[in-house]
Amino acid sequence: MSPTSGYHLVDGISMLHQQEQDYNPWFEEQYSATAEPWNYSRRGGELFRHAHTIELLRRFCPHPSSLLELGCSQGLMTAQLVPFTKELFASDVSPSAVKICKRKCDPLAAQHNCSMHYYVTTTPGLPFADDSFEVVTLCDGMIGWWFSEEQKQAALKDTYRVLRKGGYVMFTDYATPDVFDSYIQLIQNSELSVVSVSYLYDRPWYLLESVVKKLPGKALLSPIVASPKVAKLLHKAGGMVGTAAARHILIIARKE
Ligand SMILES: C[S@@+](CC[C@H](N)C(=O)[O-])C[C@H]1O[C@@H](n2cnc3c(N)ncnc32)[C@H](O)[C@@H]1O
Repeated sequence: MSPTSGYHLVDGISMLHQQEQDYNPWFEEQYSATAEPWNYSRRGGELFRHAHTIELLRRFCPHPSSLLELGCSQGLMTAQLVPFTKELFASDVSPSAVKICKRKCDPLAAQHNCSMHYYVTTTPGLPFADDSFEVVTLCDGMIGWWFSEEQKQAALKDTYRVLRKGGYVMFTDYATPDVFDSYIQLIQNSELSVVSVSYLYDRPWYLLESVVKKLPGKALLSPIVASPKVAKLLHKAGGMVGTAAARHILIIARKE
């Protein structure tokens, strides 16, 4: 699969020429200033979210022949996608993040016979031909990227364009319950068909994390915060409360 013109390879990563880039610079600033801006690898709630997202996606598409991950960050979720995917395109607007993602995923991809491609790019403006991918993921995600309504609409059109007929898009986003319905509507009003809506009941986990941060013995308690098993238990407990305990919505949509 070859990208549209304007992209060139730098150390194995496809990117636009510098002067043509028009991405939100805030994200690159975070990645170049901090080793791991959101500390996801030490936060059980996020680790559980990744595992849960992939498990859900695999119910619809167990072994995607080609998957595009938008917003791959430093490759934490990408690494978990490698074993299930034949061809994986990891992309982010931050060149520093994609570099780390590549370092993390290349050795794994060699073990699992997965063909990896790395891009500094975003949607709208994806440099891929129509009908290229069986799965596209936008995980934390359109809300977190501070897109305007127009950008969201354009991103949905572009994502639909690069998706194969019968393919799936996985959306996840951090949000409060008052936003969930409008998010569902946004996807329903696009050309995609919504096939699954679910929630992560992760408010209890975020509460735990914020309480632990304030405690004097927080270092001793950090393994609890880092544990995806604890996060899973709290998600199960939160499920008894319902969407009031949810801070993530997960939507799977299909190109009919
Ligand atoms: C909060 S992190 C989420 C990372 C990962 N997808 C996850 O679910 O844990 C958001 C990532 O999206 C990237 N990003 C921000 N705006 C983007 C855009 N318009 N297109 C693609 N990625 C973007 C950021 O650089 C950052 O790595």
